[in-house]
Amino acid sequence: MLTIPVMLDASPYEVLVGHGARHHLGPILRGLSTNSSTKVAIITEAAIVAAGWLSDVEIGLEHVVLTIPGGEAAKSLETVEHLCRQLVDAGMSRGDLLVGFGGGLVTDVAGFVAAIYHRGIRYVSVATTLLAQVDAAIGGKTAVNLPEGKNLVGAFWQPSAVLCDTETLTTLPPREWSCGRGEVAKYALLRGEGGRELLDLDLHEQVGACVADKAMVVVGDEREQGRRALLNYGHTLAHALETIDLEAGEQALGLRHGEAVAIGLLFAAELAFDLGRIEEPRVHEHRAILGGLDLDGHLPSGLSASHLVDLMRRDKKADHDLTFILDGPNGIEVVNGLDPTIVRSSLERMGATP
Ligand SMILES: NC(=O)c1ccc[n+]([C@@H]2O[C@H](COP(=O)([O-])OP(=O)(O)OC[C@H]3O[C@@H](n4cnc5c(N)ncnc54)[C@H](O)[C@@H]3O)[C@@H](O)[C@H]2O)c1
Repeated sequence: MLTIPVMLDASPYEVLVGHGARHHLGPILRGLSTNSSTKVAIITEAAIVAAGWLSDVEIGLEHVVLTIPGGEAAKSLETVEHLCRQLVDAGMSRGDLLVGFGGGLVTDVAGFVAAIYHRGIRYVSVATTLLAQVDAAIGGKTAVNLPEGKNLVGAFWQPSAVLCDTETLTTLPPREWSCGRGEVAKYALLRGEGGRELLDLDLHEQVGACVADKAMVVVGDEREQGRRALLNYGHTLAHALETIDLEAGEQALGLRHGEAVAIGLLFAAELAFDLGRIEEPRVHEHRAILGGLDLDGHLPSGLSASHLVDLMRRDKKADHDLTFILDGPNGIEVVNGLDPTIVRSSLERMGATP
């Protein structure tokens, strides 16, 4: 088992990575409990219960299991209200404990509920997707979506511990693997030279390395005042694509978060190239890292560049401006005030219509 400390001044915690890490949940919760009557609410999804990942976990404290529906539409204020009311029904109070047991959707929702229920209770995340293990469950960003956009309502609220159980990944559908690989590609690219070494590690070392990379950034900038924004590399376009999905209903592109990130990473390279910030070999490096992780990175056909630019202006980082995380002579950095004409033309070069 790998143990990676997240050494935040006010709320340090550990991330455990390895086969069977979920079995540490009971001892951790008992360690956090103030007395034997401490209650636990485990928020999860039916798919996780059906896969049997909860059935052999010994909690050792009074607990309830609350399931939420799957899919981004369930990452909503409505779900949050329903859960909070279920917590009241279960008699949960301020000293009790919450667990988010699932993928990034569950850990984001459970973390946000923990941040606001009784003005904040402690929680532990058990991450069961590659994406949640390398990214979503680490760092205390919690949020839900609005119809107008992804993750628009949220809070910074750190977990008391995170368990990344690589055994649970044995039931992960193939498409969810590629979603997680989208974020692994991001870490590899953020590393710059030597990034490809991340791809050669075995699974639990790869997860551990990504967690350590994220922990280092989060410790230096918990509230995203600076460097933490770099973790959004590839995410500006990704969030625009996901917003199209949220708005479109049945006409949706059907992209998963990590797939959208893979497209966003390639676009970030193409845009940096069009701006003269990087040379062709670095664009090739982006393609090679994505390809090495079996990711495609192609923009779905039929998208309007102007509409995408409008959506990207709405991005939380943008501050009414067109802001991207881009590679360049000083490495990957935040670039503000981009000319929409260049952004549109890079999108068109990737196949968007005007
Ligand atoms: N908070 C952050 O810093 C952060 C970072 C990145 C992404 N996110 C968020 O994470 C979410 C995406 O997370 P995700 O990709 O994990 O998706 P997800 O949580 O929706 O899970 C994907 C699918 O896999 C299923 N599943 C989960 N674990 C399984 C297992 N072990 N076996 C079988 N099936 C399993 C789920 O039921 C679901 O159908 C997005 O909402 C995104 O915004 C948050």
